[in-house]
Amino acid sequence: MTKESLNISKPKGKLGVLLPGLGAVSTTFIAGVLSIRKGLAKPIGSLTQMNTIRLGKRTDNRTPLIKEFIELAELDDLVFGGWDIFEENCYESALNAGVLEKDLLYSVKDELEQIRPMKAVFDQNYVKLINGPNIKTGKNKFDLAEQLRTDIRDFKEKNNCDRIVIVWCGSTETFIKASEVHSTIENFEKGLKENDPNIAPSMIYAYAALMEKVPYANGAPNLALDIPALMDLANKNKVPTAGKDFKTGQTLMKTILAPGFKARMLGVHGWYSTNILGNRDGEVLNDPGSFKTKEESKLSVLEQILQPELYPELYKDLYHKVTINYYPPRGDNKEGWDNIDIFGWLGYKMQIKVDFLCRDSILAAPIVLDLVLFMDLASRAGMKGIQEWLSFYFKSPMTAPNLYPEHDLFIQLMKLKNTLRFMKGEDLITHLGLDYYD
Ligand SMILES: NC(=O)c1ccc[n+]([C@@H]2O[C@H](COP(=O)([O-])OP(=O)(O)OC[C@H]3O[C@@H](n4cnc5c(N)ncnc54)[C@H](O)[C@@H]3O)[C@@H](O)[C@H]2O)c1
Repeated sequence: MTKESLNISKPKGKLGVLLPGLGAVSTTFIAGVLSIRKGLAKPIGSLTQMNTIRLGKRTDNRTPLIKEFIELAELDDLVFGGWDIFEENCYESALNAGVLEKDLLYSVKDELEQIRPMKAVFDQNYVKLINGPNIKTGKNKFDLAEQLRTDIRDFKEKNNCDRIVIVWCGSTETFIKASEVHSTIENFEKGLKENDPNIAPSMIYAYAALMEKVPYANGAPNLALDIPALMDLANKNKVPTAGKDFKTGQTLMKTILAPGFKARMLGVHGWYSTNILGNRDGEVLNDPGSFKTKEESKLSVLEQILQPELYPELYKDLYHKVTINYYPPRGDNKEGWDNIDIFGWLGYKMQIKVDFLCRDSILAAPIVLDLVLFMDLASRAGMKGIQEWLSFYFKSPMTAPNLYPEHDLFIQLMKLKNTLRFMKGEDLITHLGLDYYD
């Protein structure tokens, strides 16, 4: 417990939000914030906008909104920009994505049209199934990183921003493992200059952000920020980072259900998950390399929550399978089926079927908003490196080396709220509660 609060500077002026990848998630987020600002819609799903936080004892009746408790930037102060390999402005891109209704988009058309993608750093070796015309050229990857740094500085100046936050909303890149070039800042910079093929575009964006001391979150599952070179850079430059892979749809449901089974000591024999999805993300994931990245991210969740090493009778033989099928007619309106084979008292078998007709980008947009506001908060509070308290938002939360990630949504929420209490010098909440009975 602590009574000392962190020294959090006030969120003065404009906060620039830069998004690599202006596709379905980004435009749903931006159009959403613009319409919420106009009073046309509500920020459902966003903790920073709607959730409260209990302070002190249950009898104290102190439950302010999070945004009234801690110093967050206001929605009116956000300014949006980004990069994409396609030239469409955000209005056109949002229409193409087909997530939000045309009428709603029309009501924020003028502002959306002003947001035009800057030229992207892109390499088709990392995203096989798409290509576009709006791409930077440069002497080498180091030069491309320098160009991104210039973009960040120019955007900040042109829009009169006090601070910038970057959230990667670009396509999922192919699966790669960390190697020598990712091990130190020196190796990484040498690799940039020598065009090392193991440096992905997403790493170049992350490097540029960290060099500019801009907080950076990774919404996709691919290896990017989570390499020693970039983690060292984040710590050295005192920049907060978070990742990876927004926790939406099926994995969100898994991290809600699985902790419940474990809490009641119910066994799980099998968990079969399949999805049909027809947006560009689904198209990209049709490539086996990109799918493998996503699969790794989706599979790790159950293992950690259920802890088969501690409960072998319940979870040792769990068969877990995840597939994603690209099916264009559904667009962004994904359907995710789960068949869960569980067992109870004396080993008697039961089944649970979940059919989640969800909208991926509708679930992802408030995550982007919260990450923007919390990453900016962390930066103003002088927090650096991995922000594990933001695990709540990710399928594959980044952690310190040798630390297993927490996937249980409810532990993640407690961690998030306790971190906010800690930042403001409030008592942490343990849920012990014996003092009520003294
Ligand atoms: N929607 C969700 O619920 C969800 C959940 C978890 C993770 N994600 C991840 O978020 C990302 C965005 O999802 P989406 O549905 O918006 O996809 P999308 O395909 O609609 O948008 C991605 C955009 O990124 C662009 N892009 C690709 N490489 C780029 C690069 N190097 N630089 C700049 N732009 C680049 C593409 O042209 C595209 O416009 C994906 O990686 C996806 O896997 C989404």
